Amino acid sequence: MNNFDEKTDRRNTHSDKWDNMERVYGISADEGIAMWVADMDFRSPKCVSDAILELVDGSVYTYYGDQRSYLEAICNWMDRRHGWKVDPKWILSVNGVNNGIALAVQAYTQENDGVILFSPVYHAFASLLNANNRRIVEGELVNNNGRYELDLDALEAQLQGDEKLMIFCSPHNPGGRVWSLEELQAVAAFCIKHDLILVSDEIHHDLVYAGNKHTILALAAPEVRNRLVIMSATTKTFNIAGAHIGNAIISDKTLRKKYIATMSAGKVSANRFGYHMAEAAYNGGEEWLDDWRKYMAENKRIFDEGINAIPGLRSMNLEATYLAWVNFADTGMTKEEFTDRVVKIAKVAPNSGDTFGTGGENFLRFNIATRRELVTEAVKRIAAAFADLQ
Ligand SMILES: Cc1ncc(COP(=O)(O)O)c(C=O)c1O
Repeated sequence: MNNFDEKTDRRNTHSDKWDNMERVYGISADEGIAMWVADMDFRSPKCVSDAILELVDGSVYTYYGDQRSYLEAICNWMDRRHGWKVDPKWILSVNGVNNGIALAVQAYTQENDGVILFSPVYHAFASLLNANNRRIVEGELVNNNGRYELDLDALEAQLQGDEKLMIFCSPHNPGGRVWSLEELQAVAAFCIKHDLILVSDEIHHDLVYAGNKHTILALAAPEVRNRLVIMSATTKTFNIAGAHIGNAIISDKTLRKKYIATMSAGKVSANRFGYHMAEAAYNGGEEWLDDWRKYMAENKRIFDEGINAIPGLRSMNLEATYLAWVNFADTGMTKEEFTDRVVKIAKVAPNSGDTFGTGGENFLRFNIATRRELVTEAVKRIAAAFADLQ
């Protein structure tokens, strides 16, 4: 078993989550617990470090060429873990999933076109759409007793006719839904009916808890393949976000050609370290990931039990991801008050729910991919900050 309880001190390591906490939250890294940015405090699999060491040993860091072994590693992973047979020529390497989604938006839509999201959702989608002057169409998820569901009828009623693309987050961040086969098929049918390109961001697809089954959209609904872009990466799965490499997997030739033209216009190419790290992770990281799933199931249990015991707080049951999504609505407090209690009193730094769009206003998102000791301490501090409710 990999030791996820090992203390990795991330202070003064250029960690966004830890070293920017004081600037963003006013909490020093010495006294605070960083639970915002979506990376983990765990060491990555040893095979990744070995691959970097091997590269460093050679001391030559030239342009990367011949992607065959890298592409093979991806195809093997997708086949082994997800039962998806990918042709290497479908895979286009980009500078991370956000970069890949922005390229899809640029390739398949024009300024002012409508782009659909299911809110609340990962905040970078809205920010990249705003930066590209696209109109955001928020299909609000329905919170059905602590579980998000799609409302495609309500979304359909909102359409204005200028919508060209949908960004679908599968599994969903935040809230951690692993969409069912029926839900995936309904989304695909919606995109076909309304002539939309479907970008399925599946970056969290390996981080699924026992008892849940993620299905790659291409497998759930083969009929949508001529309008489907699947985004995937090793970076979330193996905690190597700094590698900044991801893949757009596009099986349709015409769709792929358009995407490649946009990549060429921006001269997009991933870096050598990223290729080496991703290949090593896919080839050697399986045991690490299986250990991670077991360790994190317990982190999740401890966090949820502790939070749900506080009157007025409710943590969604994550089916995937390490991003706990806590509803403070029943405290009756304003956003400022419950946030102040968590940040200023408990000295825990979560993401503010309203940055995830409509429906996120009463929530905070907590990254629980840290050693158990810190998860337990965070729960204890939050309970103390809301002690007057108990
Ligand atoms: C759903 C989702 N997509 C994309 C990303 C970012 O991916 P990248 O770092 O490869 O741009 C994240 C990071 O949290 C995410 O949660």
